[in-house]
Amino acid sequence: MAREMIIVLDFGGQYNQLIARRVRECNVYCEVHPYNIGLSKIKEMAPKGIIFTGGPNSVYGKDAVVCEKEIFDIGIPILGICYGSQLMAHLLGGKVTTAPVSEYGKTEVAVDEHTQLFTGVSDKTICWMSHTDYIEKAPQDFTVTAHTPVCPVAAMECPERRLYAVQFHPEVMHTVEGIKMLQNFVLKICGCKGDWKMDSFVETMIQTIRNKVGGGKVLCALSGGVDSSVAAVLMAKAVGRQLTCVFVDHGLLRKNEGDEVEAVFGPDGPYDLNFIRVNAQERFYQKLAGVTEPEQKRKIIGEEFIRVFEEEAKKIGAVDYLVQGTIYPDVIESGLGKSAVIKSHHNVGGLPDHVDFKEIIEPLRMLFKDEVRKAGLELGIPEHLVFRQPFPGPGLGIRIIGEVTAEKVRIVQDADHIYREEIAKAGVDKELGQYFAALTNMRSVGVMGDERTYDYAVALRAVCTSDFMTADCAQIPWEVLSKAANRIVNEVKGVNRVLYDCTSKPPATIEFE
Ligand code: XMP
Repeated sequence: MAREMIIVLDFGGQYNQLIARRVRECNVYCEVHPYNIGLSKIKEMAPKGIIFTGGPNSVYGKDAVVCEKEIFDIGIPILGICYGSQLMAHLLGGKVTTAPVSEYGKTEVAVDEHTQLFTGVSDKTICWMSHTDYIEKAPQDFTVTAHTPVCPVAAMECPERRLYAVQFHPEVMHTVEGIKMLQNFVLKICGCKGDWKMDSFVETMIQTIRNKVGGGKVLCALSGGVDSSVAAVLMAKAVGRQLTCVFVDHGLLRKNEGDEVEAVFGPDGPYDLNFIRVNAQERFYQKLAGVTEPEQKRKIIGEEFIRVFEEEAKKIGAVDYLVQGTIYPDVIESGLGKSAVIKSHHNVGGLPDHVDFKEIIEPLRMLFKDEVRKAGLELGIPEHLVFRQPFPGPGLGIRIIGEVTAEKVRIVQDADHIYREEIAKAGVDKELGQYFAALTNMRSVGVMGDERTYDYAVALRAVCTSDFMTADCAQIPWEVLSKAANRIVNEVKGVNRVLYDCTSKPPATIEFE
């Protein structure tokens, strides 16, 4: 993959990977690196441009994260976003201070100068703001190019030095013309051609894997989700029956999902690989008994998954390579940079300690989700698998608020199944990024026939999102919701109330725990 590249320097913001993803949407390869990677490494990589992310700190606080000031003199265009913009101002002699009023959310920004960065952008444009500090005064030689009623420097630049800064987040979809601004930066200011494509990824990767693995034995943890499925098929194409896939059914999958995974990857499916299914439901329920704290549930499920996997690996004996379906967001989210951890995801960081293998292979490590899907299609994986909605590793464990029990799993599986059926019947599934039922921990009074009931409330969720970092609550047609609600209450024992979640992300998350 020799190509022109943009580097995102991660100062700990929540949207760091989104920036990289948006740059790749401009067909320019982009990598995220920690803010302190060092100037010499940056020069070695010879990027066409650099983007500074946001971050949770103050540039003048004792926790300030700072890069070398000389970076501004190497002649590579830099775009500072939020904290990145403040850092640029601070290091170059401007004034950053706590704003009299914090700005959060969709904000109308007035563009004062339609410079290269703002080519084709409206005079007044809605942008996503999220800051407590602001640039009170831009450094000398900088022009202020945009403002808001409470933010005097919403954007500034010094084109002679190829330095640009915006206080808002162009990468977030709520910034209506954000993509245009990023395109302007990457294509016009940095001069990238925008010719990076995924086509050759699969072929090159299969060849790389063959060269590396030779005649070795390979073991892969398969969840049936998009990432591990694409990784498994890629490996199967490269090394065939040298590959064994272990599928752990932790009892927290959607209704019938275990059997569906087996139908595709098992002996009756289209792929030529060794497939082992482990039914470990009871083990997981036992470990989760009495546990209510979401992060603890995540950790227990992740831990137990590894233990089960290790036991299976021991039965298989020494393997040479372990395959993981890690994708780029996992790598970035797992704290390689300095992003504040909001939820621990167990995909990375939870490697088995006691499996005897030489090396890990992560064939999708540098790809974003949509790129993994493209690779899946190239590999001939059926569309219904490639475009499956994402499903969290801890599964229904984080869609059941509070303690997880087999009975609650049954309730949420049945409710979710009905909800998905009704959504598919109405044909609205294509417009939704993710939709599911969750089980609240709330029981309330109802009436069924002549009986008073005291049962659970199921919450239905549906969001529209392409990046899963931000999401809008979906406006599902009322008939679909009411049909699903009726069926759930009538058909699922233990439920007497159905609620619909109307919050977007932020401030809510997509999952409930
Ligand atoms: P949130 O709830 O953070 O979800 O808005 C964003 C996306 O991530 C998925 N998700 C997880 N995936 N392990 C995973 O592998 C997890 O612990 C986890 N938590 C959330 C979620 O389904 C959504 O697609």
